[in-house]
Amino acid sequence: KQRVLTGITTTGTPHLGNYVGAIQPAIAESQRGEYDAFFFLADYHALIKSHEPAVVHQSSREIAATWLALGLDTDATTFYRQSDVPEITELSWILTCVCAKGLMNRSHAYKAAVQDNEQKGDDPDFGVTMGLFSYPILMAADILTFNASKVPVGRDQIQHLEMARDIAQRFNHLYGDTFVLPEAVVGDDAAVLSGLDGRKMSKSYGNTIPLFLPEKKLQKHINKIKTNLLEPGEPKDPDTSTVFEIWQAFASPEQTAEMRKKFAEGIAWGQAKKELFELINAHIAPARERYDELLLDGVLLEAELLKGAAKARAHAAPMLAKARKAVGLAAFS
Ligand code: TYM
Repeated sequence: KQRVLTGITTTGTPHLGNYVGAIQPAIAESQRGEYDAFFFLADYHALIKSHEPAVVHQSSREIAATWLALGLDTDATTFYRQSDVPEITELSWILTCVCAKGLMNRSHAYKAAVQDNEQKGDDPDFGVTMGLFSYPILMAADILTFNASKVPVGRDQIQHLEMARDIAQRFNHLYGDTFVLPEAVVGDDAAVLSGLDGRKMSKSYGNTIPLFLPEKKLQKHINKIKTNLLEPGEPKDPDTSTVFEIWQAFASPEQTAEMRKKFAEGIAWGQAKKELFELINAHIAPARERYDELLLDGVLLEAELLKGAAKARAHAAPMLAKARKAVGLAAFS
């Protein structure tokens, strides 16, 4: 079986964008059973974005509970915390030593951070940690440690996948064929979901709609989605509307066609948002109950993750040994 792998950074509460772009397609794919699936919590990546221990810790817990509440089968898949598999960070160093600095200079995330600082009038590199700079190398290690060939991600991660391929290619060129070249898998309709303010829904923008908000709060968040000033009765353009975009991500094609018609007929924003709330709520309510229970069951979450880490390390250890040997770090006899 081909291997698929994907991860989520543990710096916040899982939101509709993570669900639509990554978690939901990954679980659906794993249930078809066609691939050998690896899913993990990127908690070492979280340290790049957050220096708040409580945030990182709570987020790991929430993301673990989210995957399990949505029905992930942890016997049929390998579900683990990145920090429980030290082979990954070890490989990351080996890859750091073959990765050209120039490749990292081109990273969108790094360039955005530098630009941000310039705009604020700060030293461009001030506050940019080496962790942020080499973020894509750790991500390459996540993937190459398991020789994953397919990596389902949202569009925003495509550049990171290209970098992982580049790094793998460079290593194979220098030391001989060692790593499979991974490929990003981006669903046809998996656009980058927009958030409350119309920009990409992202923890870093603070514009997210968390997936398992209690009903009332979910409704409140949906009511906050930015809309233009059109009155009820005025035709609305679905293709520039965040309300419609999120609708489309949860609705069947028939429901989407219907909503498109209602937009043309000038549905009031209040009504469109009410219908969106009902759609999402019906979709996630059963999993939300399981989520609330799981969140309180630290013992169960921990046991699941340790089971996953043991399975992951059984694959990671021989792979790391192979890479160490390839670069000249073999035993003397
Ligand atoms: P992260 O934690 O930012 O996001 C997790 C996944 O959710 C997708 N996503 C979205 N999809 C659609 N619309 C959105 N608004 C949206 N926001 C986020 C992301 O594309 C991603 O698939 N670097 C990764 C984590 C990672 C990883 C890996 C992924 C670390 N190592 C190895 C794959 C393989 C990240 O920060 O994702």
